[in-house]
Amino acid sequence: MTVTVLPGLPIQHLRRGKVREVYAVDEERLLIVATDRVSAFDVVMREAVPFKGAVLTQLTAWWLRHLQGEVDHHLLSADVAEIVGDVRSLAPYAQALRGRAMLCRRAEVFPIECVVRGYLSGSAWKEYRERGTLAGEALTAGLRESDRLDPPVFSPATKAETGHDENIPTSRVAALLGRETAARLEELTRAVYERGRDIAARRGIIIADTKLEFGRAADGDRIILVDEVLTPDSSRFWPAAQYQPGRPQPSFDKQPLRDYLDAERRAGRWTGEAPPPPLPPEVVDATSRRYLDAYERITGTRLDLTEQS
Ligand SMILES: Nc1ncnc2c1ncn2[C@@H]1O[C@H](COP(=O)(O)OP(=O)(O)O)[C@@H](O)[C@H]1O
Ligand SMILES: [Mg+2]
Repeated sequence: MTVTVLPGLPIQHLRRGKVREVYAVDEERLLIVATDRVSAFDVVMREAVPFKGAVLTQLTAWWLRHLQGEVDHHLLSADVAEIVGDVRSLAPYAQALRGRAMLCRRAEVFPIECVVRGYLSGSAWKEYRERGTLAGEALTAGLRESDRLDPPVFSPATKAETGHDENIPTSRVAALLGRETAARLEELTRAVYERGRDIAARRGIIIADTKLEFGRAADGDRIILVDEVLTPDSSRFWPAAQYQPGRPQPSFDKQPLRDYLDAERRAGRWTGEAPPPPLPPEVVDATSRRYLDAYERITGTRLDLTEQS
């Protein structure tokens, strides 16, 4: 079953993101549901990408199991049978939620996107090319686009409700959250990324950079990792086999979609803003296959939605 719009669930809807719907289960818990919506160039497409929501949810769950001991996190369950067993009012919606729902510990999320970059790309490459800096700090001279950064660079941003996030220096994070919390967020972000980068690299995927979010758990004072973790939507995934510094790298997951949209724009059939053009089925299929492929390569298993009853 593909889903761009969820059926009305009998729990309080808190927020609709580009991809996710967030619901309150009770004071301590949230239900976060990843739909099959896909966005490119900040525009959400009309078509559903089969399995995308489940890939994002199950990949996050897989990483969190593999990061056990590294960081405390929000995930209670990503198994629909377990979730509807616990939250009985959701039982009639099991089919729509299968694979894509996460029951989570509710947190007060820090208003900071914890970005860490292990390769020089995107807005970081642009800043470096123009000013020789990254996140305001000087970086070695002579780096090429997509070069590996060792150690990775922590480059936090503020979370903007609308428009683009603003990069801020670590000193601003310290001023906002206190020096101790700021240092802890950086330390946790680096630990998660470095672990993830190593695991993915051995499986043919370069995780060039990623964005993490943290919060304070409602049930105490602990800092926990929230949201999605090391997915193609929160990170840049590159196929390692085609890696070649000195140029931009193809995106593992969204390249067929981006190429199609670029061509539509060049042909004058799309303005680059909403509403998006209709997507041909082969572009949707290619995108779906890329997401599944990322999941299968990283986890070494097929995405099995049948094992969940
Ligand atoms: N454990 C949690 N507690 C509270 N909020 C959370 C938790 N995990 C994720 N969130 C929030 O849920 C939202 C997820 O929705 P999403 O579709 O990813 O939004 P966006 O389009 O802003 O990325 C984000 O605002 C994120 O900060
Ligand atoms: Mg998000």
